[in-house]
This record gives sequence, C-alpha cells and structure tokens, in this order.
Amino acid sequence: MSIPATFPAFRIHSDAAGYRSGIESLSIDELAPGEIVIKAAYSSVNYKDALAGTGRGKILRRFPLVGGIDVAGHVVQSRDPAFREGDAVLCTGCGLSETRDGGYAAYARLESRWAIPLPAGLGLREAMVLGTAGFTAGLALLRMQDNHQHPDLGPLAVTGASGGVGSLAVAIFSRAGYTVHAVSGKADQAGWLRSLGAAEVLGREALSTPRPMDSARFGGGLDNVGGPMLHALLAQTAPYGNVATAGLAASPELATSVMPFIIRGVSLIGVASAGTARGQRDEVWRRLSSDWKPAHLEALATREVGLEGLPAVFEDMLAGNSRGRTLVRLP
Ligand SMILES: NC(=O)c1ccc[n+]([C@@H]2O[C@H](COP(=O)([O-])OP(=O)(O)OC[C@H]3O[C@@H](n4cnc5c(N)ncnc54)[C@H](OP(=O)(O)O)[C@@H]3O)[C@@H](O)[C@H]2O)c1
Repeated sequence: MSIPATFPAFRIHSDAAGYRSGIESLSIDELAPGEIVIKAAYSSVNYKDALAGTGRGKILRRFPLVGGIDVAGHVVQSRDPAFREGDAVLCTGCGLSETRDGGYAAYARLESRWAIPLPAGLGLREAMVLGTAGFTAGLALLRMQDNHQHPDLGPLAVTGASGGVGSLAVAIFSRAGYTVHAVSGKADQAGWLRSLGAAEVLGREALSTPRPMDSARFGGGLDNVGGPMLHALLAQTAPYGNVATAGLAASPELATSVMPFIIRGVSLIGVASAGTARGQRDEVWRRLSSDWKPAHLEALATREVGLEGLPAVFEDMLAGNSRGRTLVRLP
C-alpha cells in the first residue's frame, strides 16, 4: 500500500518559541526510524499524553515528536520478515511520545521488537480502549499474583477508580475473580463503577487514616493517585497482601510507616508500563485478550475524538474530570 506524501499528525515542540503542540502535515521520512510502518486506526488519551501535550509534565526527552503513547493499526510496510502487509498490530509505551514519534498521526513508524501482533481475542478499537491504561492494570495484577495475591486475602481496592487505569482495573480485577472496592471522588459514578464490576464504591475520605496501621480491610489494591491515599491503602492491607503503585494523580509524595511491611509482610509493588520487558508484555496482552478481557469494554470507551479534539481532552483530564477511556480516531 502506498503512503501519501504527507499526512496529519499532532506534534509537540519545545524550542526558543516555547512549548506548543498542534496538527501539522508530516512525511513518513520525518518520523523516527523503525522497521514497520502502520496505517494507524486508533490511539487513546492517557494522563501521560495530557502532561506531554500541554507541557505540564516532563515526558518528551527530545523535540519535536508526534504525541500519543498508544497506537493500533495495520502494517503497510515492513523490513522485518516477522510482519507482513495487512497484519494488525498494537504498541503501547516503548518510547512512543518520549524518545520517538508516537501514535497521534495517520501513519506510525515502529520498532518491530515492540510491535505486538493483535491477539486473536481483540479488535483494533478494543486494543485501544485498553491501551496503556488496561496494560498497566493488567501488569499490576500480574505482578501482584506473581507475589501470591489471591482472592481469599480479601477485596482489592482501586483508587482513582473513575479514571482510565482505575476503571479498567475495576473491570479486569473483577473478571479475574477478585472482589473489587472502587475508591472514587465522583459519587455520581458509583452506578457506572458497579456496572463495571465493583462490589462496593467508597468515597476518597472513606479510605483515609492517619494511623501507621489500621484494620485490615483489603487484600491489597492498585493506587493511581499517590500521597495520603497510598499510605492509607498500605495501612489497611491484610497480612501478605500486595499494593501496586501506578500513579500520582494527587501527589508524587509518599509519607508512610514501615509498620505494614514489617508487621504484616505487606508488599509495595511498582508498576512501570512503558519499560516492561517483551516476555511480560506478551503475557499481559495474552491475558487481556482472554480470561482477563473485561466484559464491558465498550462501556469503558466514554469519549471518542479526532486529533483536533485533543487539547480540550488534555485540559479536562488534568482537571481530574476523567471517566473511563478516550479513544482517538486517526485520519
Ligand atoms: N506507572 C505506569 O506505568 C502508569 C501507566 C498509566 C498511568 N499511570 C499514572 O496513573 C495515574 C492515572 O492515569 P490515568 O491515565 O488513568 O488518568 P485519568 O484517567 O485522568 O484518571 C485519574 C483519576 O485519578 C483520580 N484523581 C484525580 N485527581 C485526584 C486528586 N487530586 N486526588 C485523588 N484522586 C484524584 C480521579 O479519579 P476519581 O475521581 O474516581 O477519584 C481521576 O479520574 C496517573 O498519575 C498516570 O500518570 C501510570
């Protein structure tokens, strides 16, 4: 398939004229090198995309770059015999919109070592409803289970539950057989969170505790917000439970005590989706497309925009207004 001389892309610059982003026409030769070119179908918006697109977080390590840490589409050119024209692939993280051009464009050039053949149980659109958010929730569960997390330890709490990672974690953890307690600042989303699989929905204040250790209400959980909420989750986790830390939507700080670790054997597990090794990456996608695939993926795709809609979504997200996932339809 021939690639047009130029195509639209949402590109981010930082130079003497300042930090700015917007739609431009690019040619394929202007993209970072890679073995395969895909006609991109969908991308998504993650918190990191909002930080990168607005310049409110230091995400890009070189400029200019096309934004978008996620992309899915069909191969149109390949220099790697493992991929052929027409193959459906997805890519999340792996340097997209950090060190190389990302997914907010009609075409993306990828390093084939990071391109995942679309698993049989997923469509391109579904892959991007999951995207980095679903991958992160799945990776957290994989790592917790590797450290012996089990439904018998008690319910898993999910903080920032209405957000992308949070809502997917609610759906994925419940699909995997856990009782899920969603913690959200949005009382009006309780019904929606229950429909995704939450057994209980708690307000943010219901989790808070100043004590180094409190009653063990949870078998563990996934924290997307950091700060006092992560402390509270650690303090209320049962013996040998795991708390995965993925986000900093409230704060990058953590003031806590060693008590849950040394008295209850609680583990704090880091989740870094962008740099996950290929073997673990394949395993998470295998689970997300089979026994962990949320039953309500379409209900999680709450918004769909074109490239022109990105700046407004970024602002909304950074203001804490996220609900589910925003898909980006590529031209
Ligand atoms: N480690 C990784 O690999 C990885 C991967 C993806 C994302 N992340 C991080 O995970 C976090 C969530 O990402 P996302 O894409 O899911 O973002 P998102 O869709 O914007 O969700 C963030 C959610 O956090 C909650 N929140 C926002 N501000 C808050 C505050 N001040 N205090 C308490 N809760 C607050 C809100 O949920 P409620 O209103 O329901 O409480 C919001 O919906 C971000 O910090 C992101 O950088 C990390």
